This record gives sequence, structure tokens and C-alpha cells, in this order.
Amino acid sequence: SGPATVSPTGSPTGADQARMAQSGAHLTNAQGTRLPDTDHSLKAGPRGPVLLQDHHLREKIMHFDHERIPERVVHARGAGAHGVFQSYGTAASVTKAGFLAPDVETPVFVRFSTVVGSRGSADTVRDTRGFATKFYTSEGVFDLVGNNIPVFFIQDAIKFPDVVHAAKPHPDREIPQAQSAHDTFWDFVSLHTEATHHTIFFMGDRGIPRSYRMMEGFGVHTFRLVNAEGRTTLVKFHWKPKLGVHSLVWDEAQLLNGNDPDFHRRDLADAIEAGAYPQWELGIQTFPDTPDQTFEGIDLLDPTNIVPEELAPVQPIGLMTLNRNPSNFFAETEQVAFHVGHLVPGIDVTDDPLLAGRLFSYLDTQITRLGGPNFPQLPINRPHAPVNDMLRDGMHQTAVHRGVAPYQPNSLDGGCPFTAGADMGAFVETPVTVPEGRKVREAPESFSDHFSQPRRFWLSMSPVEREHIIGAYVFELGKCYEEAIRVRTLQVLANIDPELCSRVADGLGLPAPEPTVPLADVEPSPALSQIGGTWPVD
Ligand code: HEM
Repeated sequence: SGPATVSPTGSPTGADQARMAQSGAHLTNAQGTRLPDTDHSLKAGPRGPVLLQDHHLREKIMHFDHERIPERVVHARGAGAHGVFQSYGTAASVTKAGFLAPDVETPVFVRFSTVVGSRGSADTVRDTRGFATKFYTSEGVFDLVGNNIPVFFIQDAIKFPDVVHAAKPHPDREIPQAQSAHDTFWDFVSLHTEATHHTIFFMGDRGIPRSYRMMEGFGVHTFRLVNAEGRTTLVKFHWKPKLGVHSLVWDEAQLLNGNDPDFHRRDLADAIEAGAYPQWELGIQTFPDTPDQTFEGIDLLDPTNIVPEELAPVQPIGLMTLNRNPSNFFAETEQVAFHVGHLVPGIDVTDDPLLAGRLFSYLDTQITRLGGPNFPQLPINRPHAPVNDMLRDGMHQTAVHRGVAPYQPNSLDGGCPFTAGADMGAFVETPVTVPEGRKVREAPESFSDHFSQPRRFWLSMSPVEREHIIGAYVFELGKCYEEAIRVRTLQVLANIDPELCSRVADGLGLPAPEPTVPLADVEPSPALSQIGGTWPVD
């Protein structure tokens, strides 16, 4: 096809390089005109009024006035790093994704984050952590936008505004600024019991990681891999840190929040600068792609579920090494735009209703956050594959498109023939059969058990981890103003385990209720414990 665009990945002109380098023999204005002085406004005499005609003052202050962009609506606080992903080739039989073929090296950018706090909040709060990875593959960008906890609070994206409104600071006083004890959060999770599994996870030690370098990462949803023959396999993605999983204890976390609110970002940057490059193995749990999309009775489309590693072992498929710090926080860590819809041939989504909403939400929010639709042209977001799209114009357009025919089909610019049925290395949606049924607003019956998996989590913990969980519930609930919320949460805990409930009730000085559902008969999963787990990886 003819060259339809000037690639936005083209190298900068000399003038651009000088501007980026912030160096040179002369200071200039934004138009490249040399400045004699940038310390004084133009005045009618040294003690006289400042003149409106001072165009340098106007430019300098105008630019400063617009330096801030909106922070992310969630995951506002984060730290990023560049690195490389080395594929083992062990996934080649289940996916045709080129970057997972044997011995392929792919550049990556990772952003770790807290979820609830604002950009200036502290690092070591009790919260879920984001773990988002951008793979710049030769077939286009693939983003794995995960968390350090393998389950989520909600089963349907339509509840996302509710859970985030409940977790964010109270609308009246804007307290607390980060995730920790408050009435709205506990009000929501005690009423909306599908949140129980995620809640007990982050009341555990994973809610206060020792370091980003020592966290697991999870894709959470079930994804669908497609191999060269078109055969599909359902998978869950796992990142396993070479350093093992480690956490702070609550007192350490509290002290660090005061002494060094930048503890996690400092730790990551210092380690990389010192050459102690953090590494994670990427692994997959694989499940047959059966029509009911369940495995051992577990609904794979319910993102509040895990599949225990003892039932489906995590199989390593590659190694990620983070080896370079960003040189500019704003340009890289702040402007990076992840999206679960950034997929490459061989990796597809499933009908998980939470994932469906995410497929809409990320691009939508980035239009506001990054000022229009052209954020894929920002250096950190540019694919490392040729771009030949028909997207044109818009706010912050920086490409100078050539040609006269930004439409398909066309005969003027050479066109791009689409040949039906040909394997063009394109991303093709898997032609899965969609179940027939009535159009309804309801969840399947298989989404209704909210307590068996939290019970499995509790039973999998070592004694010291159980003490931490009890202490966390007592601390957090002890800070709620409304007793009714504490009482309702104790009912949730009674449905997980009577000992957990009575110990928390004792700590709060309240009676322990009886369970309202039969206690599930589940086996523990030792891999969930940081002490009894499968560490280290080697
Ligand atoms: C941001 C993970 C569910 C909307 C993020 C980030 C991560 C993440 C890691 C930060 C990305 C970065 O570092 O820039 C997850 C996971 C989810 C989940 C693992 C569930 C399994 C949802 C849902 C929605 C949503 C259900 C909405 C329907 C957003 C938005 C942002 C965000 C709007 C901000 C993005 C930006 O400003 O660039 N999420 N999320 N997320 N997420 Fe999610």
C-alpha cells in the first residue's frame, strides 16, 4: 500500500532534540527566538508598572498555568520503569502471538500504582496495587493491565462507579485521602457481598507490599489464546517475582507513610539505578475452552474467583527484566495510556462482564486525561510496529499526514486490499458461539456464591498471616463511625469463618453473629500464602 501517513514515530528534528535536551548556548522562547533575560518582566522603568506588551511574560506564565493535566480517576499515584520481556517459547503451542514465540525479546514499560489515593498520596497505604505492562511487540501493542490481587470487588463493570465512589474519600471532608478505614467503603462492601473475596485479600499482607519488586501480578480475568491452527485455550495470566512475595507489617507501613511517603517509588528507582534489576516470570494457568467456560466447577467468567494453583499449575512462558528508569516522569509514567483492548493476534478476550466494561472505559477516560484522541502519538504510547491507520486530525494532532484518501476502499493512494479469508497476520476476533437467550439485566446463578472462595483464602493462611488479617479488620472497622456497618461486616465474616468473626468481634467489643449460610467445604490452597507459598520461583 502507498504511504498514507508520516509516521509519528519519525525521529525528531534538530530543533526538537534541542528542546527535549534542555540545553544549548542560548535560552529561547517556544518559537526558537533567543531571549536576553527571563528573570524580569518588561516594565515602564525599574519601579514602574509591568507592560501588557510583554509577550515573553505572557508565554511563560500561560504555559505554566496549563502544566497540570487531570490525574487518573483511579490509580493516580504510580511509578514506572522500562525493561525487556524474553519469551521462553513455551506458550507457542497455545498462542500464535509473535512475542511469545521462542527467544523473542520485546521492549516493555511497566507502571505500578495504588488505586484509591491521589497523585500526591503515600505509597505504603493498605490498598490494591496496579501492575500494568505495555509490550511493544512487532505485531502492535499488547497491554496486560493487571493488579497484585487475583480477584476484583465486582463482577460487572456497571458497578465500577459504585465501588470507586465508596472507596474514594468522603465527599464532604475528603478524608481519608488514600485507601484505609472509612464508613463509605465498609458500608458498600458489607452490603455488596461479592466484594468479600477482594476485601479479605487486601486485609491480608498483600494489601501492604514491601516493594513493587516483591509483588505478584495477575491479569485477573480469563483470556482466550488462539494458536496457529485456530485452536483456543482459556488462560489466566500471572507475574511471579524472582524476589518472592514480601509485605510490610502494619506498624512499618504506618511509620513509612510519615517518614517516606515515596518509599515504593524510591525503592524501585534505586534498585534499577544500582543494577539490581527486578525480574518477574510471566506464567499462565490453562483451561480447556469448553462451552460452559468453567473449570472444576469454578466459573471462569466470574472475576471474583481464582482457580487454585494446585488445580491448574502456573506454567512459565517468559521472563521480564526492568532495567531502565524513566528520564521524565510526566512524559512516560504520567502520559502512558494502558488499555485492555490493546490486543495482538493470538490473544483475545472472553465474555467476563467486568472485562467488557473495561474495554470501553480506558480509551474513554484517556480522551479527557490526555486532551483528545491523539494520545497514541505520545512517545511512550507509540507502537513499535508500522502504523497505517485512517485516523485523522483532532486535538493535539502531531502527525503530518500525506495523501488525499484517508478512507477505505480507495484507488487514489494505493489502498490496502482486504482479502477475505487470507491470513494477513491480522487480529481476528475468535468466532465463539454466543449463547442464545433473553435480553436481561441479571447475573448467572454461578455468580451467587460470595463466601466459598474467601473461606478458602482464610483457610490457606499461615497462623501469622491470620493474625495480620484479624488485626487489619479490627483496625479498619474500629475507625468507622457507624456501628451498624461494623455489625453488618461481622455478619460477612461469620459467613467466612467463625474464628475470624469472633476474634474481630472481640477486638471491636461486639457480639459475634452466627453464619447465615452453610460454611463451604473447601480445601486450602497453600500457594495463596506468602509463607506456605511456592517461593522462591527458581
Ligand atoms: C486504571 C487495573 C477494573 C477503569 C487502571 C490501572 C490498572 C487497572 C493497573 C492503572 C493503569 C496505569 O498504571 O496507568 C484494573 C483491574 C481491574 C480493573 C485489574 C479488574 C480486574 C476496572 C473497571 C473499570 C476500570 C471495571 C471501569 C469500568 C479504569 C480507569 C483507569 C484505570 C478509568 C484510569 C486509566 C487512565 O486514566 O489511563 N486499572 N482495573 N478499571 N481503570 Fe482499571
